[in-house]
Amino acid sequence: KSLTIGLIPADGIGREVLPAARTALEAVGSDIPPLKFVDLLAGFELFTRTGTALPDETVESLQNECDCALFGSVSSPSRKVAGYSSPIVGLRKKLDLYANIRPVLSVAPTPDEPAKVDMIVVRENTECLVSRAIPNPATLIYTGFLSSSILSKKSKKSQKRAKKLGQRVSLQNMLHHESAAWHSNSPFNVLAKWHLTIIHKSNVLSVTDGLFRESVRAVHAKEPKYQDISVAEQLVDSAVYRLFREPEIYDVMVAPNLYGDILSDAAAALVGSLGVVPSVNSGDNFVMGEPVHGSAPDIVGQNIANPIASIRSAALMLRHLGYAKGADRIDAAVDSVIREGTLLTPDLGGKSKTSEVVDAIVKRI
Ligand code: NAI
Ligand code: MG
Repeated sequence: KSLTIGLIPADGIGREVLPAARTALEAVGSDIPPLKFVDLLAGFELFTRTGTALPDETVESLQNECDCALFGSVSSPSRKVAGYSSPIVGLRKKLDLYANIRPVLSVAPTPDEPAKVDMIVVRENTECLVSRAIPNPATLIYTGFLSSSILSKKSKKSQKRAKKLGQRVSLQNMLHHESAAWHSNSPFNVLAKWHLTIIHKSNVLSVTDGLFRESVRAVHAKEPKYQDISVAEQLVDSAVYRLFREPEIYDVMVAPNLYGDILSDAAAALVGSLGVVPSVNSGDNFVMGEPVHGSAPDIVGQNIANPIASIRSAALMLRHLGYAKGADRIDAAVDSVIREGTLLTPDLGGKSKTSEVVDAIVKRI
């Protein structure tokens, strides 16, 4: 059977880095099923041309035709534009992709050295303030309250998803360490080492964030098989502080939508660039890879966008679908290019073009 992948480049550098992800996938060959790609439309630029940011045909194709998808990035304006809402937020909701899983990993100088930063941000992905258009600021409190009641359900799911992921692929495996010692760990052993930090601000937002925190704790308390996972919690502001001072204390952070968004950009700074951090939007029935970064209007059209976040998102998507070997090949190729250090885009201190980095990665795959 073949694997049908929807490709939604959308706006800005999404159009430069998503083709790179496709090229990397095509290079994998025998370790994954034959691939079919379906080009799909979405984005702000599409909206300005056609009045629609997320066409029904795109959603229908993802639901009926595709096994998984890759999304580039969208340029959402900071001011309100009548009739426009973000297509990525819409897609996450429409496909019920309730968890956004963002591994943030620094590449050590040699394969057998442990990474300095080695963590996963699990971001609740369909609720919280992020996903709600608030027409009138006076309704803010009500909206926050309303979404929190839904959030309690979603965050349980999000939590379960994190656990499920931990059972299916080991943390190390997921984070593609090349050393044999890491790979020989069974997922169960790895799970036993898991340390979860719940991020919230329930000293102030006791209703909404309090509910998030309680929901996660309740799931943990109810499941005997989760007892080996230690759970801590931290206020979001001090979590940013500690993240910068001692990133090694974090293993898995579970956070409401908005905090997860902010924390993962902060963590990206610790590993050198937003241009290397991948994610998958995941639900029970579908998975969509997406680089953590946005459309980067400051560098668009110059062939200097880092394609690694996008390429790693494709690998993470494969891993999620159970094609660990194919994912390993992509991740190992990326690591080797970063380690070698001669072909890097400017965000990582290099002078190379997007296309040169893609060529180097593809050759190694
Ligand atoms: P951004 O993530 O687009 O860029 C932040 C900084 O990181 C910029 O200096 C950019 O050049 C750099 N950067 C990002 N990705 C890079 C890459 N692959 N290679 C090299 N450098 C990279 O965030 P910004 O500038 O705040 O937002 C720009 C637009 O992107 C906005 O319209 C925003 O709405 C949208 N956005 C979309 C997201 C999505 O599609 N999921 C996520 C975040 C922002
Ligand atoms: Mg973001």
